[in-house]
Amino acid sequence: MLRIIASTLGLLCLVQAQVAPQTIRLESRVAPRGTSLKRRALNPVTVPLADFFLGTDLQWFGNMTVGTPPQTIPVVFDTGSDTLEFASTLCPECVNQVQFDPTKSSTFQDGGTTSTITFATGGGVDPVVGDNYQLTLRSAIDTVSVGGLTAPGVSLFLVTNQTSPFDIDPYSGIQGLSPSGISARAQGFFASLVNQGLPSLFSMYITPKAVGNAELTIGGIDTTKFTGTPIFASILPTSQLNTAWQLKSPALSVNGKTNSILTRSRSIIFDSGTSNVLFSTDTTEAIYALISPDIKPNPNEPGTYGIACDRISSLPAVIGISFTSQHGTPFNLTIPSSELSVGPFANDPSTCQTLINAFDGLELVGGSLLKHWFSIWDVEGQRMGFAPARL
Ligand SMILES: *[C@@H]1O[C@H](CO)[C@@H](O)[C@H](O)[C@H]1NC(C)=O
Ligand SMILES: *[C@@H]1O[C@H](CO)[C@@H](O)[C@H](O)[C@H]1NC(C)=O
Ligand SMILES: *[C@@H]1O[C@H](CO)[C@@H](O)[C@H](O)[C@H]1NC(C)=O
Repeated sequence: MLRIIASTLGLLCLVQAQVAPQTIRLESRVAPRGTSLKRRALNPVTVPLADFFLGTDLQWFGNMTVGTPPQTIPVVFDTGSDTLEFASTLCPECVNQVQFDPTKSSTFQDGGTTSTITFATGGGVDPVVGDNYQLTLRSAIDTVSVGGLTAPGVSLFLVTNQTSPFDIDPYSGIQGLSPSGISARAQGFFASLVNQGLPSLFSMYITPKAVGNAELTIGGIDTTKFTGTPIFASILPTSQLNTAWQLKSPALSVNGKTNSILTRSRSIIFDSGTSNVLFSTDTTEAIYALISPDIKPNPNEPGTYGIACDRISSLPAVIGISFTSQHGTPFNLTIPSSELSVGPFANDPSTCQTLINAFDGLELVGGSLLKHWFSIWDVEGQRMGFAPARL
């Protein structure tokens, strides 16, 4: 799920215009006098993820524990946002979710401030309309653990109200994993583990439902889940204004073909918390034109497109996204034709929705790409790595 921060769209454009070759300076860390050099490094852990499947794969979520004694809270591990928030007993609307009860945690500290968080992409395949994906939050601090790694004093938010699209979620909250949310100066769970000696990266194996066994490895890479050698690309510079995992892409292709709209340079956000692909309207329509002229917008749900369900499975629709590795080698990440259909429209069951939603100002790939590529999210190295997922 992509969090909207102030006017995210304008800020993304600003950042795009400033892209310049980056040299990442590596500095050895010199421990100040008096600090213990015997700090033990934390070992990586792998946690299983469940698939929220509703006709198509939507979200992958796993358990964390919060509080003392620990309460188990299922959360989406979301590279498109930067904070931790989850349903609580302070939220009468959150009846379908596991609710954290702050009165039962001896380490819970109320932070005393309330706020809202609004998302530009939601938990499903429908475009977000206005602020219909919004959570009302109360700040707090408590102990958080994932897979046995424990971080005390983590800054987090209790959900005290939610808009109705969240009601069907089988998970309680969202653990943001954007680069800024896990940077050393952040107060979050991941930053705390990095400060305790965990390597500053994570990797994801999020799979189609038929494959299962999805997982998140915090602090490392599960080399049994991909083939070949990962290829790495430097992420676009992040700042306080721009918190996304983004790579520059010189070209898109469809079944090996391209055109002048698709060869426009763009920066593409990788969001593990969004299932569909989002491109600007002209790019979306240029891609669909190369797949079938019969893929049409659905006027009942602006931003969505579809075609007769009985035709969709036979359409070749390999979408290729080109990138350049940190060593200057071009490489493509592809989305196979099997991802074209995300299932029938509720209001028109003979028409199946196609995977790209038009959204001007945002170019984003999510689960439909990440299902096929083992992904490495390297905060320390400011880069992302990919290798074909072993499915
Ligand atoms: C989360 O924990 C619950 C038990 O508290 C368990 O039933 C469920 O399978 C776990 N989910 C995942 C994804 O591990
Ligand atoms: C929760 O939000 C809904 C709108 O989604 C609103 O109608 C309701 O009054 C809110 N409840 C509280 C307790 O603020
Ligand atoms: C990437 O895809 C394009 C379009 O299919 C193709 O022309 C190009 O050769 C591919 N590049 C690599 C490195 O495979």
